[in-house]
Amino acid sequence: MNISIGCDHAGFELKESVKKFLIDTGHMIHDEGTFDKESTDYPDFAASVARTVSEGQSERGILICGTGIGMSIVANKLARVRAALCHSVETASLSRQHNDSNVLAIGARILETDLALAIVQAWVETKFDGGRHQERIEKIQSLENEGVTKSE
Ligand code: RB5
Repeated sequence: MNISIGCDHAGFELKESVKKFLIDTGHMIHDEGTFDKESTDYPDFAASVARTVSEGQSERGILICGTGIGMSIVANKLARVRAALCHSVETASLSRQHNDSNVLAIGARILETDLALAIVQAWVETKFDGGRHQERIEKIQSLENEGVTKSE
């Protein structure tokens, strides 16, 4: 799978671990930074990654900051992005099955590395259930099309 990944300073170490895990398991990774622990602003990296998903250059995106909260808030501003903030394997799997999430946000200050990698693995491997869930996704999309939510 073609995946963009990004983080702020708080997420840098975990981003490196997630990136290695994904490369080792055969995925193509586009690293949008940040590339060290110097203080940065999470909206810059969330926007870069979410834009690649919104515009179709990447199939999925993964964002890591201290809590994952800021990253998810920003990513969901972009058209066609459904970012899920997940702190468990179960929510990561359900965000794929029910919400067809295309961006995963996780918190480096919240999760141990092993759990973070398990969440990433579940999120990458779980398929969207479709059916009634597809109809609900279409309702989200129609809100976006009406301009009820910010889109571009
Ligand atoms: C940075 O200190 C922190 O605010 C950021 O990583 C993130 O948790 C924001 O939501």
